[in-house]
Amino acid sequence: MEDLFFIDENDRVDGIEKVTGKAKYFAEYQLPGLVYGVLVTSTITKGKIIGIEAKAANNAPGVLAVLSHLNKPSVPAYEQEGGSPMKIFYTDQIFFNGQPIALVVADTFERATYAASLVKVSYEKTPFNTDFEGSIKDTKAKKLQGQAPYKRGVENAYKTAEVQVEAVYTLPVETHNPMELHGIIADWGVNDNVTVYAKTQGVKSTQNTIAGTFKIPVENVQVNSQFVGGGFGMALRTWPLEIAAVMASKQLKKPVKLVITRDQMFTMVGNRPASYQKIGLGANKDGKITGITHTAFGQGATYENFTEGVVNMTKFMYASENVNTNYYVVPLDMGVPIWMRGPGEATGAFALESAIDEMAYALDMDPLDFRTKNDPETDPAQNRPFSSKYVKEAYKLGAAKIGWGNRKNKPASLNDGPWQIGYGVSVGVFNASRGRASVKGILKADGTLVLQSATSDIGPGTGTGMTLIASRLMSLPVDKITFELGDSSLPPAPSQGGSATLSTVGAAVNDVCVSLKSTIAELAANSGMAATSNFVDVLKKNNLPMIEVTKQSQGSPEAKNYSMYSFSIHFVQVKVHQATGVVKVSKIVSVGDSGKIVSPKTARSQMVGGAVGGIGMALTEEAILDNRYGRYVNNNFADYHVPVNADVPDIDVIFIDKPDPIINPMGAKGMGEIALIGFSAAVANAVFNATGKRIRSLPITPDKILAS
Ligand code: MOS
Repeated sequence: MEDLFFIDENDRVDGIEKVTGKAKYFAEYQLPGLVYGVLVTSTITKGKIIGIEAKAANNAPGVLAVLSHLNKPSVPAYEQEGGSPMKIFYTDQIFFNGQPIALVVADTFERATYAASLVKVSYEKTPFNTDFEGSIKDTKAKKLQGQAPYKRGVENAYKTAEVQVEAVYTLPVETHNPMELHGIIADWGVNDNVTVYAKTQGVKSTQNTIAGTFKIPVENVQVNSQFVGGGFGMALRTWPLEIAAVMASKQLKKPVKLVITRDQMFTMVGNRPASYQKIGLGANKDGKITGITHTAFGQGATYENFTEGVVNMTKFMYASENVNTNYYVVPLDMGVPIWMRGPGEATGAFALESAIDEMAYALDMDPLDFRTKNDPETDPAQNRPFSSKYVKEAYKLGAAKIGWGNRKNKPASLNDGPWQIGYGVSVGVFNASRGRASVKGILKADGTLVLQSATSDIGPGTGTGMTLIASRLMSLPVDKITFELGDSSLPPAPSQGGSATLSTVGAAVNDVCVSLKSTIAELAANSGMAATSNFVDVLKKNNLPMIEVTKQSQGSPEAKNYSMYSFSIHFVQVKVHQATGVVKVSKIVSVGDSGKIVSPKTARSQMVGGAVGGIGMALTEEAILDNRYGRYVNNNFADYHVPVNADVPDIDVIFIDKPDPIINPMGAKGMGEIALIGFSAAVANAVFNATGKRIRSLPITPDKILAS
């Protein structure tokens, strides 16, 4: 089979497995005696469960159990009072519509689904509030400080500036909705040993959560998650529904599979919270920014906290002496949000980067010139240098590639028949971080290298990147290297989140390879062999079938003297149809300033994926809640629109590809988040350039264009 495919050293190491269906995702594991769980969910938005009539369900064919707060299967950590997270089946309180309140387990999925439909729940309803924008305007509605207020220089300095822009930008709830549905297979075995097959961005995190919740030793929990069908942040925590499956397995002494439905993906596994942001921007007539004020509100939940860095980039992206920010969370009777690709920054960038564009027009300046003029050499928030930053070069490269010279600074100046044409640009930025990870390397006399780490791959190509790092250091072809991941028993690594995996785990791979090479050199010297000897010969001569090393790696203390960020510049050309208001993104150039590119093909794919997600965020994605009922009305893929091939033009990706000297031995900064951050503002800015219509509310749907 493999001969059918051309293998290039940059191809995904697991590409063939994925496209041939050989790659096994959590729901595909067939354990002996596997039984199936289906959740019953709340049909009210707030209140209390009065009763659950489960007799019919219990008597239905194949049903093994109906679990709910009435029978409270044993969960030691839930016996304690108070605290977060939501204790599934340990409360009669309803916090949101669609909350899981019972789990029906049967011998087949179909029988469990049927039986779940027979469960009758009675409630005591209480008044609820899911109205986000209404709550911001309502002075009595609760607002929590999401991040400490920040001030540099004079507060609200924009109000006295020569030129002022003041505007409100809003984003709806967006949902992650990767193709793979969320869920888990839990198998509680003898002596309280638990094996799970999970959809998770962190096998160690899932392991720790399950062990902590059931108060069993961490090593009793084995988490397997070799392949993940997309995450975007939703699998960065263990959700209550996963605990429900473990509870059921513990009680029934059988492996239990729970896969939620597409509509449940909208309610019980988080979302990108809706936001309302006000930006005040001041500049002098020469185009120097004199003040930025950014006040943001994010939608939250009543039963758990969630905050993100919505106002972070405002503090340092532009050189303004005066900056003040504030961020609040508005708790509502909705499911708790979670990080979604470019968490916080993707939200903040839409507002800030739209406002920057508005100011450029107010000054009658080219938005690129305005940005360049206000681009800081050092981090103005932390008063320290950037570890590396090539934003000005990125502006130039992207502008040349998209044909920025064809753009007219006066809006609504270019046409192609009924279509108006415009160009837009925006910046994205995200913390370039590096955590602590361990990797084990096993170098074998058969000429192969096995690397192991309990990291994850939700799609970016972790194994490919790690293999390429090792291949170059060891001068070994990629097909001689295997990188094992997605298994909690391997050396520990952090969850795959915050664009940190390549930087963090890659550095440990680097250290392992450096160590293996020095061991080989030592063995060669001790056995009178040339320093250039092949490791296979060295191992054979020393009668060693293999050598092993495990290295833990983390950033150097020097890193604290620098601000480390990855940057992206997104350029788009749009066509807006004058009669219908339809927006088509017709050209995309995304420039990544993310240090040295380790894995060119998967890095490009990251940027392409971010641009596709960005088109969705800009033009179509919106989870619509009916505030009369607290329920989503478009909780399916027919009504929640994500881009399809016809919506996506060819995407040009350019990388600066210069190593960051501080972050790690590869000089590589992360890029998962920056691929998306800022993209929606580039589209909004291009729509303004095309039409003269400033749409400050995502998504930019035809009705908004026609109405303005
Ligand atoms: Mo990402 S939101 O850190 O999975």
